[in-house]
Amino acid sequence: MDKSEKLAFSLSGILLAVFLGAIVYASVAKDIDVPTCITDMEPFAKDTLFQTGPDTYELQMVARMWAFQPSTVRLPVGSTVDLYVTSEDIIHGFKIDRKNVNLMAIPGAINYMRVTFNEPGEYLYACHEFCGAAHHTMAGRFVIEEGLDEPETEEEI
Ligand code: CUA
Repeated sequence: MDKSEKLAFSLSGILLAVFLGAIVYASVAKDIDVPTCITDMEPFAKDTLFQTGPDTYELQMVARMWAFQPSTVRLPVGSTVDLYVTSEDIIHGFKIDRKNVNLMAIPGAINYMRVTFNEPGEYLYACHEFCGAAHHTMAGRFVIEEGLDEPETEEEI
């Protein structure tokens, strides 16, 4: 084998090892997750929020032209949310500002991600997939509050 071929092989091996290491580091040390398509869950057509543990919630979110339901979600600081997103009509997107959550909302499918809110404040979510005339109005927000006793959702029609 030629010397430069050996060098190219070695460099590619090192690069592969670095990339694999980066993936392991991201998933284990940084707890970075990728969106998951859920196949073993009943389809839902209505948004629902319920508590599953002391600081954990399940939120079923429905996207439709041109709103998210719910449009506002109020939760206490420290909440972890198992987020399930689907669409009622066409393909929408679902992205939470300042969080590592970026899902597609697809009719007939349910996509999942877990998100934790450790800082109080407002976290906007918006549709990032062009979906028609009022795409730009399709947004909502998480409101994360200290000492909130009654988590709730709100709808804006
Ligand atoms: Cu829904 Cu853009």
